Amino acid sequence: MEFVRLDGNALALVFALEAGGSADLVYVGARLPDGEDLPALAAASARGRHESQPDVPPCPGLLPERKAGWSRTPALALRRNGQRIDTDCRVSDWGVQDCSITITFVDAVAGIEVACHWRIGAGDVVTARLSLANRGDATLNIDCLASLALPIPARFTERTSYSGRWAEEMQEHRQAIAPDGLARQSAIGKPGFSGGNWLLLHAAGEVLGAHLSWSGDHLLALEPDAQGAGDGRTMLQMGADWNAGEMSLAPGESFTTCPAVFAIAPDRSALAQALHIHLRTETLPERAKSEPRKVHLNSWEALGFDLSQDKLIALAEDAAGLGIERFVLDDGWFAGRRNDQTSLGDWTVSRDVFPQGLNPLIARVHALGMDLGLWVEPEMVSPDSDLYRAHPDWCLHIEGRERPTMRGQLALDLARAEVRDHLFAALDALLRDQAIAYLKWDHNRDLFPSGAGQTQGFYALLDALCAAHPHVEIESCSSGGGRIDFGVLARTHRVWPSDNNDAIERLRIMRAWSQFLPLEVLGSHVGPSPNPITGRQIAMDFRAKVAVFGHMGVEADPARMTEHDRAVLAAHIALYKAWRGVLHEGALHRLDHPDPGVIGLIAVHRDEALALVAQTEFAAAFDVSPVRLAGLAPEASYRVTLPEPWPNKARHYLATPGLWREGIVLSGTALMTHGLALPLTHPETAWLIALERLPA
Ligand code: GLA
Repeated sequence: MEFVRLDGNALALVFALEAGGSADLVYVGARLPDGEDLPALAAASARGRHESQPDVPPCPGLLPERKAGWSRTPALALRRNGQRIDTDCRVSDWGVQDCSITITFVDAVAGIEVACHWRIGAGDVVTARLSLANRGDATLNIDCLASLALPIPARFTERTSYSGRWAEEMQEHRQAIAPDGLARQSAIGKPGFSGGNWLLLHAAGEVLGAHLSWSGDHLLALEPDAQGAGDGRTMLQMGADWNAGEMSLAPGESFTTCPAVFAIAPDRSALAQALHIHLRTETLPERAKSEPRKVHLNSWEALGFDLSQDKLIALAEDAAGLGIERFVLDDGWFAGRRNDQTSLGDWTVSRDVFPQGLNPLIARVHALGMDLGLWVEPEMVSPDSDLYRAHPDWCLHIEGRERPTMRGQLALDLARAEVRDHLFAALDALLRDQAIAYLKWDHNRDLFPSGAGQTQGFYALLDALCAAHPHVEIESCSSGGGRIDFGVLARTHRVWPSDNNDAIERLRIMRAWSQFLPLEVLGSHVGPSPNPITGRQIAMDFRAKVAVFGHMGVEADPARMTEHDRAVLAAHIALYKAWRGVLHEGALHRLDHPDPGVIGLIAVHRDEALALVAQTEFAAAFDVSPVRLAGLAPEASYRVTLPEPWPNKARHYLATPGLWREGIVLSGTALMTHGLALPLTHPETAWLIALERLPA
């Protein structure tokens, strides 16, 4: 047995590797002192054999297989010539380089070679993949191949899983890891709203976050060793889910899975920061990091399908008056698309809506100091479209069966090169012929029947388009947050977290997503009031403050706002512009508050910080507990101000308004322990808190 240690900045992984035997993870957690006795560490957690176990207890380790008495989900399920293969992979070799390890396993009888690659990267986030090579002389069918098999130390006793639906994404559920574990799966060709590709595990003073970086279907299994058949640990596995028969390897071929990532941190804020660092430095495309995130105005909630050049120009003029920097033309601009039942696939500018094409609108938008974004849904086709009439076989379908629609549409088969080539040509022409700075790339239908190679086809199309138009920014939208993952974010600038712009719902949704994703990739728009989805009426001050904490935009018609609301909105757009550097480059901390209705976040960057605290309910106590900040330097002094405008009702309860305008100076310690007593009694009250660190 050999022990190998991989160190991150604050993380250590210790592997136990036995040539001809198994590969196990002996330790995962806080970085160990140099010189830690690794055999002793392994001995300290080793268990003796107990009753009702195989004579040699199985070690699922990093490659759980159905062998030696281990009976739960295997990391690989393979077939050859229609026969299931009972694999028995043994460690043959391993190599360590800097912060990464590759462990190779061989099963000579089955004719396969498996390699497990783990790397500790930016933020101490571990990226894991598995590769499989067919060393046999017949085709190998892969039914399942997990990206990650992670034996979870027994100190992790609770989990937070996610569920959701349209307009209510990322609902958190924290509970004990029950003996029956957790199994999650998506089966609609994308992660969907179900949240099964995200998971948190909790131990005292530690939280582990895991995610599958894949925009297709996923499988997640969290299996405690309830019967003690293994070693008492819980096994976490994450991997892409494929159609039966979709994946096969000819002799000599090999395949590497999509990555899964995980990180361990002392608390949820530290975990969020680690994942944000990882995404910012290793995942997002280069071009997504350089420019400040422009304030959007999106036409959808303002005009819907009721588009005309004049209406859009009027909307653009109103937008510019608010300080908007990008005008996004949503659905309805192409071919015969006057409602959601037609014309997907016909990506040419509608001459009915734009008699002279898009260029007059674009010229006006540019003259107003903005650039133009455009909505597209390339992977879809309406049965009522020229594309479908020309190529009825291009959609996902089963020959001889009905073709059920969703939102009146079918999905194209992206695995077919001619379909991708056609879409590339259509999108390329749009981007070449018009000055389009941004695409809102939507995906509003689940994939049924499912399509083999669909996600790979989607990535190939996106990659080709990004290579041809490197300056165009892209948003991943899927009826809101139906396709959000690190795989899509390796190719896009931002995501649309939800169609729900109701600021109370949005606050919860943004906080949940920001556990994994930094604020700059999370679109956050000021919607209309009453909100079209929830019917709730919310003051502009609250809507605007919530939208500042993300990639800010407006999705409402300024012409239908009061003069006062427009002024409040413009003031918040100016605040966003002043603070976006801090919000989008800083470290995000979640603020704890005893009142369940109060939600708080603070972004800290160099000598500045901006916090948002918002009351979503009617508080039980009139004098709500002071807000305690986080992430500050304890010894440093900060000037604290409350940027105006202030919430209408709550402003009257401020004890010393003058002081909050000028600024009070307090230490980081005082701000983090004593806190600030702000009026947060009434629902829909939000405050921004600005902090400037004073020179020592
Ligand atoms: C989806 C998106 C919306 C909007 C509509 C347009 O529902 O999530 O934001 O773009 O499509 O049809």
